[in-house]
Amino acid sequence: MGLIGLILRNMEASLTARDRVGIQDFVLLDNYTSESAFLDNLRKRSHENLIYTYIGTLLVSVNPYKELDIYSKKQMDTYMGVNFFELPPHIYALADNVFRTMQSEYNNHFILISGESGAGKTEASKKILQFYAVSCPSTKLLNNVRDRLLLSNPVLEAFGNAKTLKNDNSSRFGKYMDIQFDHQGGAVGGHILSYLLEKSRVVHQNHGERNFHIFYQLVEGGEEDLLRWLGLERNCQHYRYLVQGDCAKVSSINDKSDWKMVRKALSVIEFSESDIENLFAIIASVLHLGNVKFEADVRGYASLNNNQEMHWLLGIPTQVLQQGLTHRKIEAKTEEVLSPFSVDHAVYARDALAKAIYGRTFNWLVNKINESLANKDSSRKTVIGLLDIYGFEVFNVNSFEQFCINYCNEKLQQLFIQLTLKSEQEEYEMEGIEWEPVPYFNNKIICDLVEEKHRGIIALLDEECLRPGEATDLTLLEKMEEEIGGHPHFVTHKLADKKTRKTLERGDFRLLHYAGEVTYCVVGFLDKNNDLLYRNGKEVISFNFYCKKQVVTQFKSSLVGLTEILMSKEPWYVRCIKPNEAKQPGRFDDVLVRHQVKYLGLMEHLRVRRAGFAYRRKYDIFLQRYKPLCPDTWPNWRGTAAEGVQRLIKHLGYKPDEYKMGRTKIFIRHPRTLFATEDAFQICKHRLATRIQAKYKGYRVKGDYLKQREAATKIENCWRGLMARKEREKRAWASLILFLRFIKGFMTRNQPSCNDNSEYLAYVRTNYLTRLRDNLPRTVLEKDAWLTAPPILQEVADTALHNRFNLLEIKYLYLLFCFPCFQLLLKEQTSSMFKGKKENYPFSVCKLTSELTFRLRPLFLSAVTSCVCVSLPQYSVPVVKYDRNGFRPRLRQLIFTQEAAYLVEETKIKQRIDYSSLKGMSVSNLSDNFLILHVTCDDIKQKGDLVLQCDYLFEALTKLCVIANKQNYIKVVQGSVRFDIQPGREGFVDFKSGQESMVYRAKNGHLMVVSESTRTKSR
Ligand SMILES: Nc1ncnc2c1ncn2[C@@H]1O[C@H](COP(=O)(O)OP(=O)(O)O)[C@@H](O)[C@H]1O
Ligand SMILES: [Mg+2]
Repeated sequence: MGLIGLILRNMEASLTARDRVGIQDFVLLDNYTSESAFLDNLRKRSHENLIYTYIGTLLVSVNPYKELDIYSKKQMDTYMGVNFFELPPHIYALADNVFRTMQSEYNNHFILISGESGAGKTEASKKILQFYAVSCPSTKLLNNVRDRLLLSNPVLEAFGNAKTLKNDNSSRFGKYMDIQFDHQGGAVGGHILSYLLEKSRVVHQNHGERNFHIFYQLVEGGEEDLLRWLGLERNCQHYRYLVQGDCAKVSSINDKSDWKMVRKALSVIEFSESDIENLFAIIASVLHLGNVKFEADVRGYASLNNNQEMHWLLGIPTQVLQQGLTHRKIEAKTEEVLSPFSVDHAVYARDALAKAIYGRTFNWLVNKINESLANKDSSRKTVIGLLDIYGFEVFNVNSFEQFCINYCNEKLQQLFIQLTLKSEQEEYEMEGIEWEPVPYFNNKIICDLVEEKHRGIIALLDEECLRPGEATDLTLLEKMEEEIGGHPHFVTHKLADKKTRKTLERGDFRLLHYAGEVTYCVVGFLDKNNDLLYRNGKEVISFNFYCKKQVVTQFKSSLVGLTEILMSKEPWYVRCIKPNEAKQPGRFDDVLVRHQVKYLGLMEHLRVRRAGFAYRRKYDIFLQRYKPLCPDTWPNWRGTAAEGVQRLIKHLGYKPDEYKMGRTKIFIRHPRTLFATEDAFQICKHRLATRIQAKYKGYRVKGDYLKQREAATKIENCWRGLMARKEREKRAWASLILFLRFIKGFMTRNQPSCNDNSEYLAYVRTNYLTRLRDNLPRTVLEKDAWLTAPPILQEVADTALHNRFNLLEIKYLYLLFCFPCFQLLLKEQTSSMFKGKKENYPFSVCKLTSELTFRLRPLFLSAVTSCVCVSLPQYSVPVVKYDRNGFRPRLRQLIFTQEAAYLVEETKIKQRIDYSSLKGMSVSNLSDNFLILHVTCDDIKQKGDLVLQCDYLFEALTKLCVIANKQNYIKVVQGSVRFDIQPGREGFVDFKSGQESMVYRAKNGHLMVVSESTRTKSR
């Protein structure tokens, strides 16, 4: 209830603020059964220009007779989409409420605007139309329809409205207008039904009244050229049809500006120029026709002499027209005889023609407007109908027209009673709602009096019209007296009591209408009902159909049609009240208003409203709409609709006196309860819509994402495929090249090593040695078991492997291959000698590992060089020897055998150092590769110490130590090392570190060895 409670509190607060002047809804009136209280409230408010007051959803409107500043665009905006009771009563509030109900319930509605002539019905209907024109969604197309709907009004008013004593702009025809809306609320089309135009006005107006506006507009406002073309003069006084009421000029009407408006409207409604010309030519013809005068010839027959008007009439040959106006055609068996008219007859025929022309022109106009408003799209529309029909009217002399108009109002009152008072009370009974019946006057009795089959006034009138023999208005009166003389609502001079008789003429009859007594003068009833054109009169204007039905019967059936149209729609009511007869602002005539309040049934309506319920809906419809407001009923309710509604309203916190549960419907007492529910629903709807939107957006985005991912995967696949195909091509090409190279290598395998075969030979060598390693003969004796060497290795294999290898060598190889632990021992040895002492030792560790493994090149070299040595070489390494004098570098091979070390140049032994004479070995602590072998040197001829540089320094020294068993002979020195050049002569090698490795003879005669510092190296 929280939200609804808040809304209710807000609404109540604003209600009290606005209630300062009277009460804006009669339902809230304390003394609601008192007519005086009702009138007081109406008076108070209308004095403050608060012309609108509600009775529930019915709007009572009091004619202010002055322009009020309450119809601006701003006001329209204020009322748009706001609930009924949140703002002061207004015709816009009603219009908006109808529109929104139509939108939400998607059904058809009509607004019945009633009240007597001059009460403000037409104005109210225009205000409603204007509101829709502004408030409905607009597009260029819709604006077009909107303009036509709006502008159809001034056109129809020009042709169908006239000044009467009651109203300067009195509608002399009934109008029911459908506005069609599409599902988005756009006004997409319209349709107008017109009812019984008061044609007699064309030829006759009572004093103080005018003909239809269009005649005066044409004469006053028509352009000079147009008037000239139509043969008209700019003076209403020249036209008989315009001056009978003796008030062609009216201060409240500006015919000139109205003319401009009508011209503009005609072109917006898409009347072609020729249509417009023809239309005004017809209007002018009517005026000319009115001026046609007849004279009596010698025999007393009507004749037309020198009538200039004839020239302007209808484009009909003068002869035919003349004859048509002065003669009647009588069919006698096979012959047609022309019978001349008397002057009176001729005038009658002329007027009948004028009325017929005008009446049919009016119908044509309505049809044209309907064509222009028609919506051709066949999709479903909802409709709001606006019924603005002539109001109940009473003149001094009332004729056939007033009879029809008042009968029409009687019918509408009946409809109102049926839809509100009667059916409402019947419904309570049907639904089992406790109810105290409200008595009301049912005007059905009057309707029956007028329209009952065979006995009603209409039936009698028709019968009298069609009856053979001399039927007159007076015979009609007699017949009525005969047939319905005893009816409580019917009186004539003859039937009346003495007192009443004084108020009645002999030819009068009086009906006691729901809205008061009206005395009708029976004269003219038959003629008007017949609406006869003499036979050749019809020929004159080429009418090609002749309706057999009498006017009043046609009218009756069109009203039945109208009732059916209205009954199929949801009703809304505007009851217009006329505050005074003088059309004056600020005057509130109590008697007049009290009378209207009474006959409009407003008090009864209020009583029913007060006692009843403002709103009712079938359980399933109510539940369907509001079920999102309760978690138990949303999204689906499994039980019966009534149970669902009960649960729902319990959740909403309805109080017991606010509603009643009927058999099939829920009844809600106050509109504000429903509005609060509706407001809560609107908020909830937005929340739900947002959730649905979010879900949908999520769904869309997910869909997009999956699509994108799929697309990306596809692109990836294609790209990978493309790359793979390229790679395959590349590989195929590479393998072809390799294969070709292999073939070429194979073909040139026996040639000396060159570019073409170098790779192939390398492969052959590697392959052979690998195979050899795996297939060594088990014993030395199995000499033939040696693998046959390829030609490239034939020589080496022959010398080194095949012929000279002894068991030790094999053992050695075997050790190297198979006992990596031996290598570990050597590594251990190296580490103990150099770790932490010589700077470049750490960098040589990994190198050392590989150096200490089987190295083919030095081995083969040693194999080759072993031929120059005394015994079998154990190790061999290339070195650079620096001359003791002058320090010239020379490439040498250093070979260790079991007994001595040899310095060899190719196959020549340059120096032999017995291990016994090896005194020591010096190396620097820096990162150079120099070693100095110190030897005992007694003999002057003997060579001195050896200064050597060796790339495999650690390996060579380790080997030497191990082979010569001189592990402790190595000295790691800093700065410089002294050495013997020969006995008694010494030399020096100085060590230092620098940016760059260098070896040179220093100025002091020392050999300077600069080594790159390890720090620089590591950088
Ligand atoms: N709401 C209104 N504001 C101002 N004047 C009004 C209003 N309603 C009616 N009138 C005045 O009353 C006159 C008669 O109103 P109208 O609607 O033609 O009556 P009805 O159609 O009921 O016969 C209008 O011409 C206008 O001068
Ligand atoms: Mg009107």
